[in-house]
Amino acid sequence: MAQQVGQLKLVIYGLCGALCVAPLAQAQTANVAEPIVAGYARTLPVVAKNGMVAAQEAVAARIGVDILKQGGNAVDAAVATGLALAVTFPRAGNLGGGGFMLVHLAAQKKTIAIDYRETAPGAMTKAIFLDETGKFVPAKAQASGLAVGVPGTVAGLYLAWQKYGSGKFQFSDLVRPAMLLARDGIKVEGDLVLSLEEVKDRLARYPSSRAIFMHVNGTPLRDGDVFVQPDLATTLYRIFQKGPQGFYEGETAERIVAAVRNESGIMNTDDLRDYKAIERDVVRGTYRDREIVSMPPPSSGGLHIVQILNMLEGFPIAKSGPNSAQTIHLMAEAMKLAYADREKWLGDPDFVKNPVAGLSSKKYATELRKRISPDRATPSKDIKAGDPLAYESDQTTHFSVIDAQGNAVANTYTLNFSYGLGLVASGTGVLLNNELDDFAAAPGVPNAFGLMGGDANAPGPRKRPLSSMSPTMLFRNGELELVTGSPGGSRIITTVLQVISNVVDHNMNVAEASEAARVHHQLYPDELRIERGISPDTVKLLEQKGHVVREQRVMGSTQTIQRVKGEFQGAADTRQMGTAAVGY
Ligand code: GLY
Repeated sequence: MAQQVGQLKLVIYGLCGALCVAPLAQAQTANVAEPIVAGYARTLPVVAKNGMVAAQEAVAARIGVDILKQGGNAVDAAVATGLALAVTFPRAGNLGGGGFMLVHLAAQKKTIAIDYRETAPGAMTKAIFLDETGKFVPAKAQASGLAVGVPGTVAGLYLAWQKYGSGKFQFSDLVRPAMLLARDGIKVEGDLVLSLEEVKDRLARYPSSRAIFMHVNGTPLRDGDVFVQPDLATTLYRIFQKGPQGFYEGETAERIVAAVRNESGIMNTDDLRDYKAIERDVVRGTYRDREIVSMPPPSSGGLHIVQILNMLEGFPIAKSGPNSAQTIHLMAEAMKLAYADREKWLGDPDFVKNPVAGLSSKKYATELRKRISPDRATPSKDIKAGDPLAYESDQTTHFSVIDAQGNAVANTYTLNFSYGLGLVASGTGVLLNNELDDFAAAPGVPNAFGLMGGDANAPGPRKRPLSSMSPTMLFRNGELELVTGSPGGSRIITTVLQVISNVVDHNMNVAEASEAARVHHQLYPDELRIERGISPDTVKLLEQKGHVVREQRVMGSTQTIQRVKGEFQGAADTRQMGTAAVGY
């Protein structure tokens, strides 16, 4: 029996836990007449002088800070945190998924984007998720081996370390903490308990997953259990010994391929051996007096954040105030226009031309802004994609890291669904993703996040599906100011956008900016989603403008660090348990 519930062991970093990392104050912001300004803040960030990691799980965040304390730079710390999250935060931290990393190098004043998104196997075909009549079969795209993309995480973290690490650590030094956590175990509590309860049916489908995440009687691990993952420790040991080769070749690779093919997938060992993480040019824009730097395609995130901010720049958002009906209305209308373009234009840049310059152009935004009525919501059916070519000249997890020199990392990575496909490749401890649902299976067919697309994002061999993940940095007067990002599928773009607007337009500190209620519109379905905290009379005003308003539980989990007057202010989103901004 591989179920690993045993004696409580003192995990190296475990005990400090929430006590050491709780935000200094968590008073909730009440309804106020005026926009909240920093001097009157009642929700305060964590403050530190030397460095900080903000992540969705505290043990992994502390591992990153430990690397910083030992003289590592932000990249070293990010790699150690990223690997540790694969052990401590299995619903999104991963070895079996992929993601995106922004690296800012302070000395060179340079920001690099690392794309380690999963790729489709070489045998992928355009119609793979359709039946013989051409009808989309969601189970193929979301719940079979066909959904599994070739994982990119190990290659991406290795590339980051190799090119941008401090040089003071071997890659194995950064793997070691994760390996020990997998071997010795972590205490089961909080978010792990809740998330396992939510996905237990999906995990239970696979004996290899059941054996790891459940008791013999079929109940998920519970509060107080110790979660030991010996197979994952062995996989990490191979990476510890051989680097990425220990994952993409040999026993781990063979076991991943066997697991995928056993579930009707088409991946083979060549797909794994040939996987490459890629460096890309970042997306750049400006919003008022800040420069925005974010992730380029195959993420749609950076471009649409810039595009929406470009549209909003023409409106007096500071004056209309945070979460007023007018501000929410303008944001929603700008979001709808951006999501119309997302559907039409974007895909893997190695296969299709993305109109990057057009979508991020101020002039194009000026044209789009003319379509926004300040008084009325435009029905989604009346919104078509624009023509950015004429202007040519987003369950996931995010962590942010900054070091004493001002180097920084914004990293968002994912398995797609919480716990991905739910399938652990037997004998590896590696949960596999179901990322290929992010392709547009056919025009007009929504994926699990309700997002649609066309040919630009059609499935194809070795192609990367379009993403919404948006690791983002803000610069002011050429200096790094803010590092942020979020999980949340299609809502990642709008979540990150609102953190930026809260800081830039409403002068909120990062704790306030994170706590403020969020809204989201993605064109289809034609509904404006709001979190609790938007007042009923605001909702009434929005409805009078023609919005269909629907309350959603929570959106996103931002992990943000801001540089303020020589110190770091961090905020780990409190929408979920166990998050931590850890500084020193
Ligand atoms: N799997 C969600 C995203 O990449 O946007």
